[in-house]
Amino acid sequence: MVGETLFHEPVLKKEILAFLIFENARTIFDGTLGLGGHAEAILKQFPRISHYVACDLDQRHLAFARKRLKKWHQKAFFYHANFSEIKKIVQELDIPHPLVILLDLGLCSVHVDDPERGFSFSEEGPLNMAFDSSSGRSCADILNTASERELIQILRDYGEEPRALKLAQKIIARRQEKPFEMTSDLRQVIEENAHPRDQKKTLMRVFQAFRIAVNDELDVLRHTLEKAIETMRSGDRMGVISYHSLEDRIVKQFFVLQSRPETEETEFSRHSVVAPAKAKLLTKKPIVPSEEEISQNPRARSARLRILEKIT
Ligand SMILES: C[S@@+](CC[C@H](N)C(=O)[O-])C[C@H]1O[C@@H](n2cnc3c(N)ncnc32)[C@H](O)[C@@H]1O
Repeated sequence: MVGETLFHEPVLKKEILAFLIFENARTIFDGTLGLGGHAEAILKQFPRISHYVACDLDQRHLAFARKRLKKWHQKAFFYHANFSEIKKIVQELDIPHPLVILLDLGLCSVHVDDPERGFSFSEEGPLNMAFDSSSGRSCADILNTASERELIQILRDYGEEPRALKLAQKIIARRQEKPFEMTSDLRQVIEENAHPRDQKKTLMRVFQAFRIAVNDELDVLRHTLEKAIETMRSGDRMGVISYHSLEDRIVKQFFVLQSRPETEETEFSRHSVVAPAKAKLLTKKPIVPSEEEISQNPRARSARLRILEKIT
C-alpha cells in the first residue's frame, strides 16, 4: 500500500557510494531496489546519472520506492521483474554507458518483520517465503509435495544441514498426518528433532534453505552473473552484496574466473592463453561493514561486497 511507512537500513551505503559508483557513470541497474535506500543515496550524490533502472520482485517495495524516488521520476525506470532479466531490460531501454550494476541480494528487513510473508521462524504466519507474493510456489507447497530426495537436496545444498536425511523423513511423516501451512508447523518439526543446543542454528539453516528453494536464488544468481557480464562494456562495473557463504562463493568464483585469462591445454603448453581476462577485480578481498555499521544495524553483519570492472 502506497503511503505506508516501511523501513530497511541500506547496507554498506557509504562503501557503495565510494567504491562502486563513479562520477562518469550514466546508468545504474539496481536489480534489488527494495525500499530504494541505496537508490536515493546514489541519485542524490551522482546527479550526472541519466538512467536509474530498478527491479524488484516485491510489488509492495516497488510501490514504496517509486514514491520515495518521485523527485527523479524522469530518469527512473521501474520493473516488477527478476534481476535475471537484466540483458533484455537493458537492451530494450538502449541505455547509455558507463553502466553500474548493483545487486543487494536476499531479503529486506520488511520481509523478516512481516509475519504474513512467512520468512521468520519466530513469528507465526503462512509458510509463503516468495519474494514475489503473486508467484505460484510457496514454501508450504514444497514441504507438502517434494520427494524425499528433493527435500534432502534442499536441506543439504541450501542449508548445509548435517541431518538432512532425518529431517526430510520427519517432514514427510508430518505431512502425512496434516499438511504444512504455518511457520509453527515447520518450527515444531525442527524443534522436536534437533538437539536443544542446536535448535536456533537449525531453525536458521532450515528456514534459509527453503527460502532459497522457493525463490530458486542460487540458480538465478548464477544465470544473472552470466547475463550481466554479457551486458557490460569496457569500463562498466558490477557490485554484489551477499549475505551468506553460498551466495558469496558463487560471486567470488565467478568474479575470479572473469578476471583471469582464458587458457587451454595444448600439446606444447599446459596453459596457453586463448582469450584475455574479461574483467578486473576491484576488491581482492570483500568489503565488509564497519564495527560502527554493525552496532547500528546488526542485520548487516554478514554482508560482503565484491566489485568487478569489465575491461574488454
Ligand atoms: C536486501 S533488499 C534490497 C534493499 C535495497 N538495496 C534498499 O536500499 O532498500 C533485497 C530486495 O531484492 C528483492 N529481490 C530478491 N531477489 C530478487 C530477484 N531475483 N529479482 C528482483 N528482486 C529481487 C527483494 O524483494 C528485496 O526487496
